Amino acid sequence: MNVVHTVSDLKAQLAAFRSNGCSIGLVPTMGALHAGHASLVRRSLIENDATAVSIFVNPTQFNDQNDLDKYPRTLESDCQLLTAVADEVASEKGKESIIVVFAPSVEEIYPEPDTRQFSYPPTDTVMEGAFRPGHFNGVCQIVSKLFSFAEPTRAYFGEKDFQQIAVIRRMVDDKGFDLLLCPCPIVREADGLALSSRNTLLSTDERQTAVNISHTLFESLEYAKNHTLEETRQWVVSKIDKVEGLEVQYYNIVDGKSLQDISSWDDSDDIVGCITVFCGHLPVRLIDNIRYK
Ligand code: PAF
Repeated sequence: MNVVHTVSDLKAQLAAFRSNGCSIGLVPTMGALHAGHASLVRRSLIENDATAVSIFVNPTQFNDQNDLDKYPRTLESDCQLLTAVADEVASEKGKESIIVVFAPSVEEIYPEPDTRQFSYPPTDTVMEGAFRPGHFNGVCQIVSKLFSFAEPTRAYFGEKDFQQIAVIRRMVDDKGFDLLLCPCPIVREADGLALSSRNTLLSTDERQTAVNISHTLFESLEYAKNHTLEETRQWVVSKIDKVEGLEVQYYNIVDGKSLQDISSWDDSDDIVGCITVFCGHLPVRLIDNIRYK
């Protein structure tokens, strides 16, 4: 496994594979890798000849300096996890797994401030877009750069960040990137908590408390069968808010493509509930989602 730190080294490595007719998978990450990321990398290794994994805590998508400062940075253990995934897939496929890790500095990515503006309403203005102004603009800045550097055949994103995929889908169409966007299912702990790099910031007690988020979402699937959409939405919010140490920031039940709120279960055949909850003393901001249809 090769680790490169500059755009020119990344391009040179990938150009060599591309000139041999190899397909390239890209897995953009901010590091602090866990089993959720491993599932994206595993899928990319299976579907492509070579996989680029970027590890970069992108400052332009943080609108809170404290959040950026406390974001875990763990390059060494990230590389160990990637080596383990590469070995596993290689022994299953009976063929070498090729991973190029791209771990650039902030100066390498942003030699000068990125002033580009991306705007894809309503996907980037609702929910996370409303509570974290500028967040999706920063995501589009970095992801568009990564797409241009790596020119991947396929790019892999986890569905835990459901809204992020909807925004990136719009950007891919808008900018005409010639790649296949591959959304991958949420990976959960055995007890149901959605895997997130932020989970490492929870104390043991907070970790126990956080599991109420996914449990309530799962239970709401049953509740929704005999209740209106708004009743279900309110039931989720009040059940989670009653748990000490949890506070719902929003729970929106939306059309899975436009991300616009809907008012009845009959309004769409693609319905997803997206939640953000503050958990614990820091607090840690946790997101999750559940598909109703
Ligand atoms: O989902 C993430 O980890 C980040 O938003 C991404 C896509 C790597 C861009 O920094």
